[in-house]
Amino acid sequence: MDLEAEIAKLKRELNAVILAHYYQEGEIQDVADFVGDSLALAQQAEQTKADVIVFCGVHFMAETAKILNPEKLVLLPDLEAGCSLSDRCPPDRFKAFKAQHPDAFVVTYVNSSAAVKAMSDVICTSSNAAKMVAKAPKDRPILFAPDQHLGRYVARQTGRELLLWPGSCIVHEIFSEKRLVQLKVEHPDAEVVAHPECEEAVLRHADFIGSTKQILDRTVESPKQKFIVVTEAGILHQMQQKAPHKTFIPAPPDNGCACNECPHMKRNTLEKLHRCMKDRTPRLDMPPALAQAAYAPLKRMLEWSK
Ligand code: 13P
Ligand code: SF4
Repeated sequence: MDLEAEIAKLKRELNAVILAHYYQEGEIQDVADFVGDSLALAQQAEQTKADVIVFCGVHFMAETAKILNPEKLVLLPDLEAGCSLSDRCPPDRFKAFKAQHPDAFVVTYVNSSAAVKAMSDVICTSSNAAKMVAKAPKDRPILFAPDQHLGRYVARQTGRELLLWPGSCIVHEIFSEKRLVQLKVEHPDAEVVAHPECEEAVLRHADFIGSTKQILDRTVESPKQKFIVVTEAGILHQMQQKAPHKTFIPAPPDNGCACNECPHMKRNTLEKLHRCMKDRTPRLDMPPALAQAAYAPLKRMLEWSK
């Protein structure tokens, strides 16, 4: 079966839009209507006129689309596609953490569950975290969750003190400082581009730090011809398409495994994408009250990002 053609046909029948994150398999990115970072995908989800949103990403991303479109059908090829950051911040523990700082303004990374979002004042993504923190009231302490490394990076950028939830991403914490330095020595002409979810020791060696979209744009615009890419390896697909004459070297993890691939993102396959569109399931459902509670901080982020 020509899966690509079948997916295109189902898309017309359903009046669906396919949104995909840069960490998806290349063949999924190629059939998507839009490929982007977390912020751009949320913005697309907010603006779409389609009846059905097919989200090729992880659970929290599809949840975000649902919060913004409670009346629409949101499909996710694999409902089990989670996120270590989101999983490591259970709502009950987050509630207790928040209760210890009752006067705090809560800035929550979009890589979190809807229940945690609902307890927040504003949501952020890796591309606008500094902007959101800078807009937080000056006279209140700031809680930042769940990624401690992004939080530390943003605290340095903004000069604001942040109370950090001790979370991290299983993919970005695996990059080895030692092996990155070795790679830099082997390729002295390469620019190092990194995602802010990496540990501080790794970020110290980066020439450019940004969200997946910002990293991609940087590699296209930079005069350099060679890049060491310190984030999930799926992003290389767009880099190779947008700058085919340039060289992209994925940064090595600590232990020679393929751990620079997000196991959650990679649960989605072209076959599962086709099946979910054909069967109209798995679908992302959420209690309306939860969607409503998580809407205000998410909408605030979208407003503050303009
Ligand atoms: P972006 O905000 O760059 O899309 O990052 C999302 C993510 O999950 C990084 O691991
Ligand atoms: Fe979550 Fe990390 Fe995967 Fe991004 S790369 S979705 S933060 S586990």
